[in-house]
Amino acid sequence: MIILIGNQKGGAGKSTFTLLLANYLTTVRKQKVTILDMDYQQSIAAKAEKAKILENDPLYEVVPTELKQFPDLLQVILSKRDEIALLDMPGKMDDDGLIPAIAAADFIICPFAYDEFTVDSTILFALVVRRINNRAPLIFIPNRIKQTVKYETKTEVEKVISGFGTITPPIPDRIDFQRIGIFQTPTTVYAAILPVLGLLCDQYLLKKETL
Ligand SMILES: Nc1ncnc2c1ncn2[C@@H]1O[C@H](COP(=O)(O)OP(=O)(O)OP(=O)(O)O)[C@@H](O)[C@H]1O
Ligand SMILES: [Mg+2]
Repeated sequence: MIILIGNQKGGAGKSTFTLLLANYLTTVRKQKVTILDMDYQQSIAAKAEKAKILENDPLYEVVPTELKQFPDLLQVILSKRDEIALLDMPGKMDDDGLIPAIAAADFIICPFAYDEFTVDSTILFALVVRRINNRAPLIFIPNRIKQTVKYETKTEVEKVISGFGTITPPIPDRIDFQRIGIFQTPTTVYAAILPVLGLLCDQYLLKKETL
């Protein structure tokens, strides 16, 4: 299964959510996971290199992936039954090499925020994705949501976005998100995010297995 985490808005929370999902799928749901780090900055792959020094028994593999390698790596993933590949996308959609990844996705997860610039990028991302892949459910995750802030655009934004896919409950803005790492999610973060991860897995990613 291929799960793509994308939004062309930089800093929307793609890499953070990729790690959260990888940690949760392996630790809580006992799934086999590989992260393909397709971001040019390779932030997850760099963390994984550091973790290698400390960890003997990695929970999952992180593969730094050049876009031109993707079609061949896809065949490797598809040949492994029950393997879940998480594709961490770059914060830009400026390369045709991304098309095969979008086309191959079974699910597309898009973290976003309600500010004007992020919303525009999010809608553009959804439009591009839908032209390439009309099969994968698009799941939008409001991220870094502050309880004290009233988001004036919320209703309007949700109306537009729900035309492309589903919107999950929000992920709060929390300082302890800085401590999410390879194989490691702080328990306080789990407590805050379990409703979103549970819903995502039960209603989408692992639906067949749980029914
Ligand atoms: N819910 C949250 N609460 C607090 N901080 C968050 C949250 N989500 C993400 N962050 C922080 O925001 C920053 C950007 O997140 P992240 O690197 O995941 O974004 P990205 O979409 O992968 O960015 P890029 O487009 O550059 O790859 C990081 O410092 C991360 O720790
Ligand atoms: Mg990133």
